[in-house]
Amino acid sequence: MTRIGILTGGGDCPGLNGVIRAVTLHARQTYGWEIVGIRNGFEGLYEEVYEDLTPARVQNVLPRGGTMLGSSNRANPFAYPVKLPDGRVEVHDVSSRCLANLAKLALHGLVIVGGDGTMSFGQKFIQRGATRIVGVPKTIDNDLEATDYTVGFQTAVEVVVQALERLHTTAESHERIMIVEVMGRYAGWIALTSGLAGGAHVVLIPEIDYDLDRIIDSFHRRHGRGVSYSIVVVAEGAKPKGGALAVATPGDATKQEKLGGAAQRLAEAISAKSEYEVRSTVLGHVQRGGAPCAFDRELATRFGVRAVEMIAEGKFGHVTGLENGKIVAVPIEKAVKKLKLIDPSGELVRAAKGIGIELGG
Ligand code: F6P
Repeated sequence: MTRIGILTGGGDCPGLNGVIRAVTLHARQTYGWEIVGIRNGFEGLYEEVYEDLTPARVQNVLPRGGTMLGSSNRANPFAYPVKLPDGRVEVHDVSSRCLANLAKLALHGLVIVGGDGTMSFGQKFIQRGATRIVGVPKTIDNDLEATDYTVGFQTAVEVVVQALERLHTTAESHERIMIVEVMGRYAGWIALTSGLAGGAHVVLIPEIDYDLDRIIDSFHRRHGRGVSYSIVVVAEGAKPKGGALAVATPGDATKQEKLGGAAQRLAEAISAKSEYEVRSTVLGHVQRGGAPCAFDRELATRFGVRAVEMIAEGKFGHVTGLENGKIVAVPIEKAVKKLKLIDPSGELVRAAKGIGIELGG
């Protein structure tokens, strides 16, 4: 019987189960194919840990967050942390073994669901002859060029907006500056979108380095108008003019650096230069957990179905994308060439400035 495979790589996000469900249902019910789920991203391909996916197995998973297949953001097949018998860990290129395991599976096609890291591994495998790969872009960061929206992003924005609403009331009661650090890595999509939707007064994004004085001046102006509290959204990748990224844990050959500390740094800087009472909140992985919103369930389903169609059509080496409301197939190179960042003079930034949000630069 014809068999296809699917794996979810990198950090998880809400909506992954919707992709797995759609791929399983469409592949099985429309084409009669078998579906092999590869556990924990490329780790499962290396370790040969698989599970059969059937319509019964994916029942009721649509509203569930996370990924039923597991994921790993340390499973880089080209720089893989291998545990040696003496307990030491060495970084090895295990891609040949992954390729051999892939050949053993004899898949008609492999769906890789992931962000820029997973897609770039997929591209490398394609270059090394494993050509029957298609991708589905997911990440709360929304930083993939291939698509207007990635699976998981809108849910993360909903989480942040709910948090901002809660912080508004307590900030107002205590006349405080409330700083909220959000994820997004080197892109400000979560920060700016949720800042707009959640009524933030200051939004700091990686694409625009901030000037502390401008931020404090904006508080003075609000106070001058009799409003004695402010909500600040700071992206984890935002930095002051001339300053560095706030890095919590440096990266190495096997994993990316971990950002963190932007809110704390800003809180200290504001306190050192003004009399305002400041509090900071780091939303962290709350943004990645829980049930996907309706938009992500729908997008996950449309992407999953299209991915199966792409395999049926032989349209390998492409990833699904949402372009002006339509689902399209985009060459995988476009998904990995460069990160999709906010245009500092684009419409989103103009909308924020238009209603008086201070962007710090
Ligand atoms: O890429 C998704 C993301 O949640 C980023 O926004 C964040 O910087 C990072 O992953 C956190 O990674 P980890 O789950 O390894 O802490």
